[in-house]
Amino acid sequence: MTIRKPLIAGNWKMNTTPQEGVALSQSICRIVDDADEVDVVLCPPFTSLIAVYSVVHHTTVMLGAQNVNQYPNGAYTGEVSVEMLRGLVSHVIVGHSERRQYYGETDQTVAAKASAVVNAEMTAIVCVGENDVERERRRAERYVRRQVRQGLTGVVNPSHVVIAYEPIWAIGTGVSATIGQIEYMAASIREEVCDVYDQDVADGMRVLYGGSTNASNIEQIVASPAVDGALVGGASLNDAEFSKMVSIMAESGAATR
Ligand code: PGA
Repeated sequence: MTIRKPLIAGNWKMNTTPQEGVALSQSICRIVDDADEVDVVLCPPFTSLIAVYSVVHHTTVMLGAQNVNQYPNGAYTGEVSVEMLRGLVSHVIVGHSERRQYYGETDQTVAAKASAVVNAEMTAIVCVGENDVERERRRAERYVRRQVRQGLTGVVNPSHVVIAYEPIWAIGTGVSATIGQIEYMAASIREEVCDVYDQDVADGMRVLYGGSTNASNIEQIVASPAVDGALVGGASLNDAEFSKMVSIMAESGAATR
C-alpha cells in the first residue's frame, strides 16, 4: 500500500504586508507546529517570503511561493527564478487558474515552470481545473486530463510533484465541488499520471482539492481516500480557521491511512 502524506497549503494570494505575514504565520505556527502527520505549507506573496521564513524555519511549517519564472536568470523584469527561491521555500504553486486566466499561462509554461521547480529539488504544486463552461458542456474531464498531461511534459522527477484539482467555479465562490465530483476527477488525474509515467508514480502522487474549502467542509473532503489534502485560499488568511483545518486533517483518516 502506498502511503501519501497529507498536505495542506495556504495560498495567501495578493494579500498581506510583510508585517501582517509575520503575525499570521506566528499565530498559525503557535497552534500547528506539532502537526507532523500533515505537511503544512504557507504561501505568502514574494514580498513576505523572507519575513515569514524567519518565523517558520525552526518549525515543521513549510514555506511555498505562489509562482516562479521558468528561466534561471536574465532580462525578465519583475520575475523571480527558482535560483532566487532556493533555500527559502520548499514548495512552489505552478499554474494556478488565476495565473492562467489573468497572465496567459499555458500548459506549456506550466510544464516549463514545473520542470524548473522539481529540477531545483523543490515540490511543484501543479494546479489544474475546469471552468463552468467546460463543466456545463461536459468537457471537464477531458480538459483536466489535458492539463495534467501537458503540464507534466518533460517533468522528469514526478516524486516532486503534487497536483491540485481546483475547479475555477469553486474558487472563492463559497461553493465547493461535491465529494463525488472531486473523487471522479482525482481518479481521472491519477489515470492520466499513470499514462504519462507508470502505476507506481500514480499511486504515490498526492492529489489535493482546492475551491472554497474551510473548517466546516474539510473533514468530509479529506475523508475520501482519493484526496490527499487541500490548497486553501480565503480560509488560509484566517489564523483560527486555517489552524482548525490543519487539526481536522491531522486527526482525519487522511493522516492515518
Ligand atoms: P479559495 O481559493 O479557497 O478561496 O476558494 C483556493 C485557491 O485559489 O487556491
